Amino acid sequence: MNKKIVILYHFVDKATKDEALTKEHVFVDNQTDDAVPYFRNVLREGGYGVGVHRITADRLSDILHLDADYIFNLVDSKELELPVAQMLGLQKTPYAGATYKALSICNDKKRTKQLLRQYRFPTPEYIYVFYSDRIVNLRLPFAFPAIVKPTQEHCSVGITDRSIVRSHDELIYRIEELRVMLKQSVLIEEFIPGKELQVTLVENEKILEALPMAEMAFRGSVRNPWNIYGFEEKWKKDSALYKSCHFVAPPRDVPEEDIEAMLKDAKRAYTAFGLKDYGRVDLRYNPLTRRWYILEVNANPGLDPDPRDASTASANGAGLSLDDVVLRIVKNSLHE
Ligand SMILES: Nc1ncnc2c1ncn2[C@@H]1O[C@H](COP(=O)(O)OP(=O)(O)O)[C@@H](O)[C@H]1O
Ligand SMILES: [Mg+2]
Repeated sequence: MNKKIVILYHFVDKATKDEALTKEHVFVDNQTDDAVPYFRNVLREGGYGVGVHRITADRLSDILHLDADYIFNLVDSKELELPVAQMLGLQKTPYAGATYKALSICNDKKRTKQLLRQYRFPTPEYIYVFYSDRIVNLRLPFAFPAIVKPTQEHCSVGITDRSIVRSHDELIYRIEELRVMLKQSVLIEEFIPGKELQVTLVENEKILEALPMAEMAFRGSVRNPWNIYGFEEKWKKDSALYKSCHFVAPPRDVPEEDIEAMLKDAKRAYTAFGLKDYGRVDLRYNPLTRRWYILEVNANPGLDPDPRDASTASANGAGLSLDDVVLRIVKNSLHE
């Protein structure tokens, strides 16, 4: 009989009134819905029985009783990503996606930086400013420009051109702005000029495989002054920046030996952070110095069928479709 896969997801209504969430959070969390029909079709076509389970905060323990041979976890909402991963760790059915432990490190930029440093990965210089720290006399131990990021967010929530600051005054202003908006500590990093790169990694027959690296690019004359993958480039569907932003694999004009070295670092990071099944490592590369820096490790990266997305570009770069990658993740976990 066909194995049964249950797709687990969290529906976040665009009209939600949760005061802990900004409109950016709600928008980002709501987008996961688009992935559900895609995954359902791919898994069905792959010959599996497929069920979909919509999880809610008050029924988390449903996860302990799902009728499934395998669970594909798509929950990456601000509210439920960690609680769901914790619950998945308490039950016996194999599941796709990261463990609670890996996710709790990757979702916290402070812990991520600590681990990157501990393993001697190249990563931008940084300091933290805690929510209640006095900042009037703040001095950076590196030169401007710097980038100011919230420590507890993902998906570029709180990241715009305004995140990049060129002076002490701009720095203080941006920290105050983020404190009002997101009420959390901030991470300040040296700004790395250059290319925005992503490495999608997939376990294949228990061997970790890095798909061809993808580089962010823009079509036509649209340019983003700092070449960042911020909230607008990632999510604002009616903006010119969003429409022209896409990923290409492999990157343009990067020496082969640097690509090889970055892929090696990305694989090391996957292992150091304890990722499972699949993951993504994001980097910046400065072509002038030929140095690269790991920005973050994504334990639960979206696998987005949109051709503009990095995971699809990387799959295509390897001669695969994203469907092949999804099925590979399942087959690998089920030892098929
Ligand atoms: N130190 C940095 N130098 C240059 N660009 C950066 C730096 N840190 C972040 N960025 C830009 O901001 C984007 C989002 O930052 P990131 O740390 O990945 O946060 P998130 O978890 O929200 O995705 C990155 O993809 C990159 O374009
Ligand atoms: Mg990121």
